[in-house]
Amino acid sequence: MAIIYHEKSQTFHLFNAEISYVFTILQNHQLGQLYFGKRIHDREDFAYLLELKARPMSACAFEGDRNFSLEHIKQEYPSYGTGDMRYPAFTILQENGSRISDFVYSGHTIKNGKPALDWLPATYAEECVLISTCNRTEVYTYVEQENEAETLEVYLQDSVSGTKLILRYTIFKDFPVITRNVRFEQNVDTKVCLERAMSLSLDLPDMNYEMIELTGAWSRERYVETRKLAHGIQAVYSMRGCSSANYNPFIALKRPETTENSGEVIGFSLIYSGNFLAQAEVDTYNITRVTIGIHPENFSWQLEKGDSFETPEAVMVYSKDGLNGMSHIFHRLYQSRLARGKWRDLERPILINNWEATYFDFNESKILEIAECAKQLGIELFVLDDGWFGKRNDDTSSLGDWYVNLEKLPNGVSGLEKQIEKLGMKFGLWIEPEMINKESKLYKEHADWVLNTPNRNMSHGRNQFVLDFSREDVVDGIYDQLENVFQDAPISYVKWDMNRSMTEVYSQAASPEEQGTIMHKYILGVYRLYEKLIARFPDILFESCASGGSRFDPGMLYYAPQCWTSDDTDAVERLKIQYGTSMVYPLSSMGAHVSAVPNHQLLRNTSLAMRGNVAYFGAFGYELDITKLKEEEKEVIKEQVAFMKQYRKLLQYGTFYRLSSPFEGNVTAWMVVDKEQKTALVGYYRILQRVNDAYHRIKLQGLNKDYCYYVTVLEEDIYGDELMNIGLVVSDASSGENHEKYDGTNGDFQSRIYKLTAVCDE
Ligand code: DGJ
Repeated sequence: MAIIYHEKSQTFHLFNAEISYVFTILQNHQLGQLYFGKRIHDREDFAYLLELKARPMSACAFEGDRNFSLEHIKQEYPSYGTGDMRYPAFTILQENGSRISDFVYSGHTIKNGKPALDWLPATYAEECVLISTCNRTEVYTYVEQENEAETLEVYLQDSVSGTKLILRYTIFKDFPVITRNVRFEQNVDTKVCLERAMSLSLDLPDMNYEMIELTGAWSRERYVETRKLAHGIQAVYSMRGCSSANYNPFIALKRPETTENSGEVIGFSLIYSGNFLAQAEVDTYNITRVTIGIHPENFSWQLEKGDSFETPEAVMVYSKDGLNGMSHIFHRLYQSRLARGKWRDLERPILINNWEATYFDFNESKILEIAECAKQLGIELFVLDDGWFGKRNDDTSSLGDWYVNLEKLPNGVSGLEKQIEKLGMKFGLWIEPEMINKESKLYKEHADWVLNTPNRNMSHGRNQFVLDFSREDVVDGIYDQLENVFQDAPISYVKWDMNRSMTEVYSQAASPEEQGTIMHKYILGVYRLYEKLIARFPDILFESCASGGSRFDPGMLYYAPQCWTSDDTDAVERLKIQYGTSMVYPLSSMGAHVSAVPNHQLLRNTSLAMRGNVAYFGAFGYELDITKLKEEEKEVIKEQVAFMKQYRKLLQYGTFYRLSSPFEGNVTAWMVVDKEQKTALVGYYRILQRVNDAYHRIKLQGLNKDYCYYVTVLEEDIYGDELMNIGLVVSDASSGENHEKYDGTNGDFQSRIYKLTAVCDE
């Protein structure tokens, strides 16, 4: 890995074993983009890639020279108004009303390692080091690792506005990844206002791509959609105050011939949990400009002397091994260099959550009844969901009042926790700290803590309103309440929910000029509360949640290493949701629970086996009243829990391959393989039974071609090369036969887990 600056040609080349990123200082001292992709040789000069040529009717920078037009130059961080007619990376409004700028190169530094960002989540460079061995237990710690990454900071200065720009690039030794972010600094007395400040802009030399996005809505989050790039703008975004279920802060550009397992793809992901824009603009010369960052709508940020603004971090992943290759890189990076803390590398506890079991209707004895039964089945953690606080018996009251409801829990949270601990289980709690109901003590005391615009209607969502987390005093007030609850009982898990989009955003505590900062400052407030709670309670495992998966984004993973993937717990629906989510996010981050049938979202009936077989591929748990199950169903759960405990490490931290897409047909399949390629689990799911069906095989991935594997279900020893080149035979033994009754292998919604164990390695 290296970052090289070629003095003579003024060219930067960032490279590691797999990728190269090249840009240069242009004739006008701004920055021009030359290449991002597979590793190429380093050399002094790549200027031929600029392809400067005169084009009719273009605005040119230098009199007498018709070759240098910003409209036709691929750039690093472009502005509008000086020749480039495409969407800019940033806009700065100056005191005289002008938005013209000219940021020219003024220097750069290259450092080992990767500096942290001010108040923002970001990837980091570090290494796991053994510090001691105590009673044969190895104790590890993480130390910052200088050799794992290198960071380039390029400084640019606009002499008229007095603004300084710092473009920051990090390249990692072991990941085909470049991370980028931008810092604006105002160093002189003049005031400026940032109206657009994207984290990344990348000009690619052609448009022969398909754009992949993750799109959906509540309960159908992160469906995979692909569209061919066309001239003009194609974008995904959120203006809801959270990253949203509707679009994820991610796009990928893949070549038309790229498949799951081969071909080029570039993935772009934003480490941010608020409003975002991810856009591919193709100009009529077929240049593709990708920008990703905070959505400029409702964003403006004044900078006075001494002020600075830092954008969130954007991550660019290059894969030559198709979409699975891209996902492997995201999974590894986000699992090991974004998620932090005690739980980062740990197998996640198997939990039972009472939400779909009781909703708001519970008391201490009901909870203990479920917990006792769960313990007998081997479940490790009980999570008490919504309804334990204030006077909350439905969704109309009490958000903001984070003290226990003694009518439901006469011994308090700590009393309940003690009894659950006595059973030998851990205890977890649900909170929704960013919200308030009018029907609450907090609203009576602090109506001004709510985000709302003076003299305007205040829209509610699920009867609740949004607290002004742009204010430190509000965040601190909520922190104090939560600290009381968490210190009262040893809580080992917290589910942090957030159940509405933001509207009529306006802070009572901010000046008119500051109102454009509020949506971003709100997210910074959310991050600050997480940071404070993590610092005070480092052992708690946080799971983020927003009406299910409305805030499943990399920003959240920095604080909460797992996220409730969706409120839709139907096994068939979950195939699409988990498949799409896996494009970017690792299995260890995907909360996946077995729930009751008929399913509460769809009224669909699927077998307990099918529900388990889908939920295994995630942070596994249960969400139903297990006390109402038949004895034989409890036995099945016991077996599922035992299976999950045995294979949890593989399922949560193994290499995951998507094999067959739920968006393309009747069969979904995926698999995980361990590092040593000795054990693999294949999940196979067939939605509708077909009569007299054809034969089916699924080509596996990631195995060792020379290892022979014992394959359960088929009960056969088969070589890796056969399984990967011929495929795993998955034809239904039963298809076409006449069945008198369902026997567990026929009918709709079938699934199987194939276990592959290497029996010999030659
Ligand atoms: C939405 C979450 O996604 C659910 O799991 C549950 O916690 C409810 N909120 C509780 O109100």
